Amino acid sequence: MTLEKELAGRIALVTGGASGIGAKTCDVLARRGAWVVVVDFDLPGAQRVADSLRDHGVECLALSADVTDPTAMEAAISQTVQRFGALHLAVNNAGIASPLAPVGELDIDIWHRVVGVDLTGTFLSLRFQIPAILKSGGGAIVNLASILGLNGMAGRGAYAAAKHGVVGLTKSAALDYAQQNLRVNAVAPGYVDTPLLSDRDPAERAAIADLHPIGRMAQPGEIAEMIAFLLSPRASFITGQTYLVDGGYSIR
Ligand code: NAI
Repeated sequence: MTLEKELAGRIALVTGGASGIGAKTCDVLARRGAWVVVVDFDLPGAQRVADSLRDHGVECLALSADVTDPTAMEAAISQTVQRFGALHLAVNNAGIASPLAPVGELDIDIWHRVVGVDLTGTFLSLRFQIPAILKSGGGAIVNLASILGLNGMAGRGAYAAAKHGVVGLTKSAALDYAQQNLRVNAVAPGYVDTPLLSDRDPAERAAIADLHPIGRMAQPGEIAEMIAFLLSPRASFITGQTYLVDGGYSIR
């Protein structure tokens, strides 16, 4: 089988698939032959992405769900299985940034919101995806961590705590299912040029670029390639790992 179609016959679900890294991941998975379910609370955005994927000759479905809502996530997984008969691959990518504030001044509602989406949302996604994947004979999952899942950053306590949590959840889920043909890994990007950073002004964007020895932010496709690799049979002996894709940020 060619690399181009190595995911043929696989059903994949991507949360936060309407924008940024998630949208590009949907595109790469569809190019490799997977049928893709685009889940997002932005339904028109998810629909636009799903419509664009059909150009690759695959079946697609757009679903509206908030990853913090267990009922909505359970329904999204169940609709996926009803429509396509199985679920093999999942990318838990929906996430939000946290506004800048030192921990001693961090708004408590913001803490709950960021941890709720970035960590609890990842758990709720796994909670309903895993039984469906096991029933389908196994597969692979990638969770989106961050350089802040492995490092601290002043002013970003909620986000860093949530993403460190994603790394720990990934390791434990990998151990839970290592003998049931289900691999669970995480990808930890450096800064990526997506709408998540749309509130940063040009000077701040230039300073962010300089944090990476490669001298720029990542493009979403550079993260999507690692995600697609980890979901593919080429990564069949990899589980419980968190892969940095950070332009050298962590080795300075
Ligand atoms: P983005 O803002 O472009 O896309 C995020 C998507 O998630 C949007 O479509 C949004 O509607 C959706 N979403 C947000 N909250 C949701 C919820 N509660 N339920 C359902 N959908 C929801 O963001 P981007 O940059 O593509 O980020 C994707 C992931 O990558 C996030 O987990 C983020 O933390 C992580 N990441 C991003 C980095 C960056 O620099 N952009 C760096 C490291 C990690």
